[in-house]
This record gives sequence, C-alpha cells and structure tokens, in this order.
Amino acid sequence: MNILILGSGGREHTFAWKIAKSSKCEKLYVAPGNSGTAAIATNINIGVNDFEAIKIVVLENAIDLVVVGPEDPLVNGIHDFFLADASIKHIAIIGPQKAAAALEGSKEFAKEFLYRHSIPTAAYESFTKETVEQGYAFLETLNAPYVLKADGLAAGKGVVILNDIAEAKAELKSMLVDAKFGNASTKVVIEEFLDGIELSCFVLTDGENYKILPTAKDYKRIGEGDTGLNTGGMGAVSPVPFATEAFLEKIETRIVKPTVEGLKKDNLPYVGFIFIGLIKVGDDPKVIEYNVRMGDPETEVVFPRLKNDLVEVLQAMANGTLNKIDIEIDQRAATTIMLVSGGYPEAYEKGKEITGIEAIENSIPFHAGAQLKDGKVVTSGGRVIAITSYGDTYQEAIKKSYQSIDKLNFDKMYYRKDIGFDL
Ligand code: AMP
Ligand code: GLY
Repeated sequence: MNILILGSGGREHTFAWKIAKSSKCEKLYVAPGNSGTAAIATNINIGVNDFEAIKIVVLENAIDLVVVGPEDPLVNGIHDFFLADASIKHIAIIGPQKAAAALEGSKEFAKEFLYRHSIPTAAYESFTKETVEQGYAFLETLNAPYVLKADGLAAGKGVVILNDIAEAKAELKSMLVDAKFGNASTKVVIEEFLDGIELSCFVLTDGENYKILPTAKDYKRIGEGDTGLNTGGMGAVSPVPFATEAFLEKIETRIVKPTVEGLKKDNLPYVGFIFIGLIKVGDDPKVIEYNVRMGDPETEVVFPRLKNDLVEVLQAMANGTLNKIDIEIDQRAATTIMLVSGGYPEAYEKGKEITGIEAIENSIPFHAGAQLKDGKVVTSGGRVIAITSYGDTYQEAIKKSYQSIDKLNFDKMYYRKDIGFDL
C-alpha cells in the first residue's frame, strides 16, 4: 500500500523508518518531511494544515493510508475533512476526528472527560474573563505551587506553575483579561499541584480495542537537573524503570480502560494514538494530560522497541481489528538524546551544516529540524537530531548515544549530558 506521513520532526522520521521496513509498504511519502525522511521516502513540500493540498497529493499518488504526526491538523479536523469528501473518504486516517482531538485541544474538555469517567487526575476549576474574581478566590483555597493552564493549544507554553499567590493571580489576569495566549487563554484551568515523577503511556486504539505500547519518560527542560525553560523534549528513555508490573496494571485498569470506554460512551470515534501524560503520586498514577498523537522524542524510543510490522498494526487500527494483533516488544532498553540549536527554546540560528552523521554506527540518528540544502544536511529548527541507542540497560543505551554524539557536530550544538539522571 501507499502511505503518507504528515509532519517533519523526529517523530515522523521514526514513523518513516519503521514503516519503510514493512513489505506491505509500496510507496512512502512524507509531507513536508526532513533530511532524514528524504533518504527513505519521498518528501512533498506542503504544510500539515493545508488540507486541500493534502487531498491533491493523496489522489495523485493513490495513497491508501495517512498517518498524522502532530496534533494541529487533528485538532483542526483533518480526519473529518476526509470523511466529508466522497473522493477521499475511503482512505484510512490514523488520528482521531476533531471531536475527540479536543482531548488535547482543550484542557477543560479533557478535565471534564476525566471527571465524567472517574479517571484519577488533579482537582480543578475553570474560569473565563467574566469569572476572573472567582478564579482569584479559588487560588486562595489552594496551596502553592499554583498550576494555571490555558485551555487551548499554546505551542507547549500554556502551562504556568508559580509559587507565589500574587504572581499566580497576576498570571491569571494576564491569561484571561490580557489574552496572553490569544484565543487559547479565553478559558483557564486552575489545578491542584501533583507532586511526583512523570512518565508517559502510549495506547493504540481502533475505537473498540486497544493495545498498550511501552512506557517512556521524556526530559522537557533545557537545562541539566531539569532546570530552565520547557522544550519539546531533550531526551527520552524506554522502558521507565519505576513502572513496575503492579504499577502498569493500575495504569491499565484505572486509566487506559476507562479512557477507551469513555470515548465509546461519549460517541467520540477514535482511531489513532492516545498519549497519556501521567504522574506517579505515591504508588498511584494520575493523568496530567492527554495528547492525541505520539510524543516526540518518546516515539524515538518507543517505536524502535516495537517488533511488529507497523503497517500491519496501522491497518488493524484502521480496520477495527486491533484485537487480532499481538504487540511484541524488544526487551532491550532504548534511549534518545536530542541535539538542539544553541539558544533553543528561545531564538536560535538555522542553516548550520551537520557533520559526522554517516560516522554513527551504534545508534540511529532520527532527524528532526534538519533539511537537505545543496547536498548537505543543515539545521532548520530548534530540535535538530535525536540519537537513539539500544542497550541491555538504559545506562548502557545512554552511554552509546553519548559516544555517537561525539562524532557529530554543528555550530552551537547543545544537548543535555544527564538524560536518565533521576532514574
Ligand atoms: P501539560 O501541558 O498539561 O502536560 O503540562 C506541562 C507540564 O506541567 C507537565 O508535564 C507537568 O510537568 C506540569 N504539570 C501540569 N499539571 C500539573 C499538576 N497538576 N501538578 C504538577 N505538575 C503539573
Ligand atoms: N515530548 C512531549 C510531547 O511530545 O508532547
């Protein structure tokens, strides 16, 4: 079959790497893709939100299956766009319809879903410009730190955690009254602070059945020791050593099952990935957030551990036969270290030549913000390349990634040297 992947990051390079191994994949396209996908698939230079252009590509190239990488097109309704058009409605789309994508697109919608289905999560209330005074009063009832979340998508910047009540009130005003995040902060969710260690759980569903992929932990902060600004993710480890069998059992019964059943009860059709951001409070998992896609860089450690033919799995998701699939996992650990442009997540330069990629032997380089230019691979984004390695232990895998990184270079290259430090 012919497959189109939407997106251009390390996640999409990993999808392409895994799909390209399948004998079921005839032609593979990535839109817009990067220098990594260019080496194993055909890149098509169109945006992930340009649905009309995507339709033309799909028809011209007889695409059978579309895998949506990022959340944006899902929240914008790409799946619904396909269903509403007779010429493309038969094409399988991996990614939920707009109504269910609101699990990521609206924090309030996600909290209401969690409460409605009695899934453990932080206590919360939500507020608008009209109820900002009640918001201040609610903050007074909580203990520090205060967690404020813009309701809508805010490019990963919409969650603010503050220790001081006066600052929390000022932030609430800035979000609601001064529209700090534009429309995304028309509503703000204020949450109880949960203290614990975070991990992510990835679920595949066809809307009826589900399968759980290996857990992973990502490192979101730019600085060592988890300090400094939030990023898209600086590295990841799978499996998560503290996720014991007993803890995984709790995740499945208390969170995964009621989530998939809740989607059915609420009439929210869902074919795709559910990324559940969890926090371990004492011995219990609680949901921090839902994402309606795979994580990045978690994909770069989860998919390398999946032994199945990914195309078979994706077909089963699309056909509603996921119950017929046995997920097989490589017992080795996988880790990835993200190399970023100096300055990221703030301003950074682009167009720097990346050297040494071909010298890497014991790791897999997944390209992210990297593009081909005049035959060279150059930086084109903040997160540039993720170096994934396997090991019998995560420590061994991390060591291999750092050894591979020694061979790589680009001007102002930065990476965290402490991935896995807290495990
Ligand atoms: P989110 O975008 O909802 O994942 O939030 C971003 C980050 O903020 C999470 O990965 C957590 O580190 C932190 N966070 C969000 N909600 C809470 C909470 N209720 N308690 C503690 N930390 C939180
Ligand atoms: N690494 C976190 C995310 O993909 O949202």
